Amino acid sequence: MNPAYQEPWYHRATLYHIYPLSFADSDGDGFGDLKGIIQHLDYLNDGTSESLGVEAIWLSPVYVSPMADWGYDVVDHTAIDPRFGTMADFERLLAEVHRRGMKLLLDYVPNHTSILHEWFEEARASRKSLKRDWYIWADPAGDGGPPNNWLSRFGGPAWTLDETTGQYYMHSFLPEQPDLNWRNPGVRDAMLDVLRFWLDKGVDGFRTDAVYGLVKDKVLRDDEPNPNYRPGISDPADMFSRVHSSGQQELGSVIGSFCEVLAHKADTFLLSEAYLNIAGLRDLYQACREHPLHAPFNFNLMGLSWGAHYFRSFIDEYEAMLGPNDWPNYVLGNHDRHRLVKRVGPQRARLLGMLQLTLRGLPVVYYGEELGLSDTHVNKNQRRDPWGIRVPGYGLGRDVARGPMPWNSDIDAGFTTGVPWLPIASTAAHLNVEQESRQPSSSLNLYRHLIHLRTQSPALTEGDYRSLQLDNPYVYGYIRETELQRFLVILNFDNHHAVVTLKGKVGAWVAGTEVVDGDGQEPLDGLVELGPYEGRMYELIRGGK
Ligand code: NOJ
Ligand code: MG
Repeated sequence: MNPAYQEPWYHRATLYHIYPLSFADSDGDGFGDLKGIIQHLDYLNDGTSESLGVEAIWLSPVYVSPMADWGYDVVDHTAIDPRFGTMADFERLLAEVHRRGMKLLLDYVPNHTSILHEWFEEARASRKSLKRDWYIWADPAGDGGPPNNWLSRFGGPAWTLDETTGQYYMHSFLPEQPDLNWRNPGVRDAMLDVLRFWLDKGVDGFRTDAVYGLVKDKVLRDDEPNPNYRPGISDPADMFSRVHSSGQQELGSVIGSFCEVLAHKADTFLLSEAYLNIAGLRDLYQACREHPLHAPFNFNLMGLSWGAHYFRSFIDEYEAMLGPNDWPNYVLGNHDRHRLVKRVGPQRARLLGMLQLTLRGLPVVYYGEELGLSDTHVNKNQRRDPWGIRVPGYGLGRDVARGPMPWNSDIDAGFTTGVPWLPIASTAAHLNVEQESRQPSSSLNLYRHLIHLRTQSPALTEGDYRSLQLDNPYVYGYIRETELQRFLVILNFDNHHAVVTLKGKVGAWVAGTEVVDGDGQEPLDGLVELGPYEGRMYELIRGGK
């Protein structure tokens, strides 16, 4: 290998996902903003082991938006919404992020724009408009209803009638978010320019929103009935399998075009949002084989059945699917899902945190996950998320996972001096940055310790992954190793004590979910007793196996 070759930053980094509306409010309007983020960058990485130690940040959208979907409805892709600050604030944020040795990724929203975007205003003005074909239009069905059975993810049909021109326009999400037509070359050019604009500004990559639905069936065929759909129980938007309204073959070339743009700038990275199984992920990796700077998010850990066996077999299979240049990643939560602790409970959450931070691949940590936050209670009259409001009764509202970041034990959690846009969690008095920093075994210190170990240990960043057949079926174990360094991770998926016998020469206990720093001791006779949901990492001494 070329001695000058350096691993790309995303092989080392932990990616921290900030939902800007809820991270820190600097001007007292109750909404988080860019200056608020700047004020807290030292928390993320101040160059010492006192800080969390993440090396990359992804921001949910900060572009000009009427906020129908809280920023995922973009009016101007290359300007900052005043609610978040100014372009000068953004440039300062970027400089401050870089000064701390971190990378900054933006959220790229190519599937749709806001209904107020000038492209859509031009498109809807007349059937003859030059931009008409930039969006997806169709005549009403025979009965005057929507052109086909496609459903919006956020309730109701994916079509809204435009009275003036007598045609329906298509929207995968809200009626306020018309879908762009990626079969139109003008759309492609304009949207690729958006990538270029931010790359020129200095950003290091993008998380790409709603990728899977970018290209739709050309002749708008109906979606097919979903055999797993349970009326009254399933999300009504899942009544049909989206075989024609999403996932078209042409998608590969669109993602490929993103990669081509990014390939012009060194050290950039692209993550695509698509909820796919291993076979689906493989196809998306293929899209950028020429420029391996792209990975589809791996959301699968969020949906696995609980058990050492399920996790081991999924991760083994995922690892086996990856090509030599494909970089894995693991996500445990985001702004669209209930928080990790809500889904699995606090102990299992710590175990999964340890799993994520010791596997091979980019760990993506959603703000507050490191604090062990659960969902926030949000009353009916406090709701903000249009999805939960439009489709009540199914637990779909996402506000619960988007609460203000708790910085300290003050009444407003140090988030704002005004009225927070979403309520402060009732747990904020004890689960917050200031308190947890002082408690050696807090969730924050667990994350901090593991993130630092990770960045400093070649075995955890570039090292191979190999799972082990242990003598206890409740314990998932694996080795991470380079030629010079070896670690063994053992995770007890059971809520009882578990004993495992480790083979070979096992060295010091260096990290764990209970004793965060480990105790530095070697296990006696290779025997380790793990408490319920306990995880540990040991150094392995070479010559053992
Ligand atoms: C996925 C985003 O994560 C979600 O928050 C948003 O509502 C939809 N895409 C539409 O942009
Ligand atoms: Mg503000």
